[in-house]
Amino acid sequence: MTTLLHIDASVRAVKNDNPAHDSISKNIAKRFIDSFAQHQAIDEYIYRDVGVNPPPFITQDWIGAVFTPDDKKTTEQKQILALSDLLIAEIAGADIIVISSPMYNYGMPAQLKAWFDLIVRINKTFDFDLARGDFPLQPLLGGKTLIVITSSGEFGFEQGGIREHMSHLVPHLRTLSKYLGVSTIHEIASEYQEFADTRHQQSLENAYSRAKELALHLSYVAA
Ligand SMILES: Cc1cc2nc3c(=O)[nH]c(=O)nc-3n(C[C@H](O)[C@H](O)[C@H](O)COP(=O)(O)O)c2cc1C
Repeated sequence: MTTLLHIDASVRAVKNDNPAHDSISKNIAKRFIDSFAQHQAIDEYIYRDVGVNPPPFITQDWIGAVFTPDDKKTTEQKQILALSDLLIAEIAGADIIVISSPMYNYGMPAQLKAWFDLIVRINKTFDFDLARGDFPLQPLLGGKTLIVITSSGEFGFEQGGIREHMSHLVPHLRTLSKYLGVSTIHEIASEYQEFADTRHQQSLENAYSRAKELALHLSYVAA
């Protein structure tokens, strides 16, 4: 039994009239999903394209609703939290989570951050206890596998790379992953898109191969 939650975050579509405009991150994620599905039945597949259909930003009323005890919440507050409740339920039920994301301004798109702001929520995905000292937050979910698929125009964002100090996409996703209940992370990155040279071609091919290999590996693990 595998429940797979797939979040895409690029504002670009998978397919466009001009293929040069196709989202790289979405297409690598598609390769992973298609390859996984060839080897392992996916019992439930949940898909959200937050790039094309962005979730709303949180508001002061949203925070007020979050911190109101359940038995005191008004009907309006419950409505304010309805989408957050749904998104959290999708995460809670997932065994495997795939997040594909472009790098925008050295980090994640605002649309993906908006999704995280809705799901990192007290007493839902973490609890808070000052008795824990300097680290009072504790994640509540666990046991999930996350596949992070990224695409960037520049390169060298990996550990030891020439732009490691400018790398705020994957490190941020790693930090947040514990609130998704992630115990294992796999990362696939395509780089050099803006250079449009053989390095980009090679990076892209490596990413597609890795997506296929990882799908095969994880389909055996899930079997
Ligand atoms: C608004 C915007 C900001 C970007 N910022 C960066 C950046 O900071 N660093 C980088 O390496 N590439 C940057 N890029 C290039 C994208 O990361 C690259 O085009 C990537 O392939 C986009 O993902 P996608 O193909 O899935 O849409 C940016 C692109 C856009 C449109």
